[in-house]
Amino acid sequence: MAKLIGYKTVKTAVFISGKGSNLRSLIKFSKTRKSPISINLIISDNSKAEGLKYSKINKIKKKVFNFKKKYKVENKILRILKNYDIRMIFLAGFMKILSKNFIIKFKGKILNIHPSLLPKYKGLNTHKRALDNDEKYSGCTVHFVNSKLDSGKIILQKKVKIKKNETESSLAKKILAQEHKLYPKAILNIFNL
Ligand code: GRF
Repeated sequence: MAKLIGYKTVKTAVFISGKGSNLRSLIKFSKTRKSPISINLIISDNSKAEGLKYSKINKIKKKVFNFKKKYKVENKILRILKNYDIRMIFLAGFMKILSKNFIIKFKGKILNIHPSLLPKYKGLNTHKRALDNDEKYSGCTVHFVNSKLDSGKIILQKKVKIKKNETESSLAKKILAQEHKLYPKAILNIFNL
């Protein structure tokens, strides 16, 4: 991706479904001088997502959509993204799978963070599966989104060691702390910064 000229930042949207701790870290990053992006919209499929609170705190517009009629709602979202001049999308704990039709419209412009060392443990319950398999390491991955779940080109990964007495929740906590650092790093990386 091209280097940025002057002060202009790329307008982006973050998609969330839950707590939004990655959203919080991305907002923090977007406010730093070195950030090539601004976050202009928060989108959620869940009106009760805790992370929606970061909309008010940071004066970022939020929109909640019911994904029951996925095709219809995705087209609505695409129109809104266009209105907001959104050029990139960051999925951060977003629990819906976007359709091929949607992804094609933002080809190479959608990133996701996943709590495992992909290609291992795609999908849900990553920490439990890593522990059940007696893995020595796990971690997190930021990757481009393509039409196959958790399978797009990997941008960056961070490895963490699994301790002997590790539990699902201790591992989740440890990895989440790394996710908060990895996502901004991956963004700098794709902008060659
Ligand atoms: C993170 O572990 C992310 O990798 C996964 O869901 C979790 C979301 O956490 N996809 P948060 O909502 O960003 O706090």
